[in-house]
Amino acid sequence: MALWSGRFEQGVDEFTQRFGASLEVDKKMYRQDIAGSIAHAKMLAKQGVLSEEDVRKIEAGLRAIKEKIESGSFEWDVNDEDIHMAVEGALTADIGDAGARLHTGRSRNDQVATDIRLLAKDLLLGLIQANCSLRDALLEGAEKYFGVVMPGYTHMQHAQPVLFSHHLLAYFWMLTRDFGRLASAYHAADANPLGSAALAGTTYPLDRHYTTELLGFDHPIPNSMDAVSDRDYLLDLEYACSVSMMHLSRLCEEIITWSTTEFGFITLSDSYSTGSSIMPQKKNPDFAELTRGKTGRVYGDLMTLLTTMKGLPLAYNKDLQECKEGAIDAAETLHDCMTCVEGMVRTWEVHEQRMLDEAGQGFTAATDVADYLAKHGLPFRRAHEVVGELVLYCEKHHMGLEDLTLEDFKKASSLFEDDIARDLDPAGIAGARNTYGGTGHEAVRVQISEAHDTLGRD
Ligand code: ARG
Repeated sequence: MALWSGRFEQGVDEFTQRFGASLEVDKKMYRQDIAGSIAHAKMLAKQGVLSEEDVRKIEAGLRAIKEKIESGSFEWDVNDEDIHMAVEGALTADIGDAGARLHTGRSRNDQVATDIRLLAKDLLLGLIQANCSLRDALLEGAEKYFGVVMPGYTHMQHAQPVLFSHHLLAYFWMLTRDFGRLASAYHAADANPLGSAALAGTTYPLDRHYTTELLGFDHPIPNSMDAVSDRDYLLDLEYACSVSMMHLSRLCEEIITWSTTEFGFITLSDSYSTGSSIMPQKKNPDFAELTRGKTGRVYGDLMTLLTTMKGLPLAYNKDLQECKEGAIDAAETLHDCMTCVEGMVRTWEVHEQRMLDEAGQGFTAATDVADYLAKHGLPFRRAHEVVGELVLYCEKHHMGLEDLTLEDFKKASSLFEDDIARDLDPAGIAGARNTYGGTGHEAVRVQISEAHDTLGRD
């Protein structure tokens, strides 16, 4: 019999019972549900609504249930519909009337809102930790490979040589912004709905500030109707997860590309690769691909919740039961993907020479050659044209700018002298761009130290 069966003459149909249940998903928040109930009971005792004796029994009973759940001996029954009724039903079976008094001044509506907020906070803390750990891996890579030069791309065409560290740090900063979004979702979740009851508050003298303190929330939510029906913090969580997945997906796309035969910039460690059941030579970047692929499902979680919330009148509606699964899925998926990407980054083998060789290919020195002329007095637009013609000449003769003789250069412009050779060296080119935020050695050193400061603060 359901705990609310008093006004019903018939039990629920077996199918609708299953259809309406949220027990499977709810199992993930049994700890939060029990913590919420203990806080509610303690507050009822403090306010003189329940006796100290009842609350002692309730607390001991709830702790015993927690142990049973954790040891696997708790008997789940879909007829309990959700975690709230499963726990309360078991409690009452175990300790009798005291258990049946626990729900005084409370509704499942404020109870579920409390549970999800506590769960969201736990999930977000885990995500924040994983985010910091992944950023640490990127920063470690930036320091370890300091000085390694690779081609920088625009339109996937060779553009200008850059330091590999600079490239890795670009992801560090993306993930730093993700940290900010996760932290802000945490703050959004950090408010207490308990004591709002079904939607309107209650006539019992509840102390919502006390449960706020007991549960570690920042403040009680000031409006009971908003408290039971707000799921914005889950949207914030899912948006933060979506953006972070998008960043991981971009990095994974690069990891996949860099490990192709054509690029050959990195080799993933065996622990982060798989083989083929037919082609013995294969080493596939499955986990980078899977991370890229899972981005779609996290975006899906966000769209699902936005759509669920649209058009819901105040206050609680059963639609809200659908909110949990996607949020948990988004958080768990991002967590796994961050762990996976961190592992790849910490264990990959970087082929420095191969990167350097490619960095000089595709006329990546052209901008610096034009700058050479401009620094010697030729207007930059004119210089651009002269070098464009040199590139065309080289292309026709299947050579690079570094293969031209000083005589060839002089034919294009009398301003060239033999010191032009310095501006053709990819390592020199990458290392010399020392404007703030640039790829030069000095600028990247500054960046690494700022990254350390930021990570230290987060
Ligand atoms: N199982 C519900 C949920 O997850 C709990 C609240 C149900 N309240 C109600 N009046 N049906 O949202």
